[in-house]
Amino acid sequence: MYACICHGVHDHEVHDCIRAGARTEDEIGDACDAGTGCGNCRQRLADMIERYFAEESVPAA
Ligand code: FES
Repeated sequence: MYACICHGVHDHEVHDCIRAGARTEDEIGDACDAGTGCGNCRQRLADMIERYFAEESVPAA
């Protein structure tokens, strides 16, 4: 599924950017261009960052 339609960036590519160190929508934009067009996906990118760290903070079993 596309996370950013303007730049054809898939959600797995955004996750790769977050794993590589992107922590804000701007940093994701610098890494893979997502969010640097119309801006409609920026809230989705913010949600993906939040969800990623929410899941990361769950202690491993
Ligand atoms: S959909 Fe991502 S910038 Fe337009």
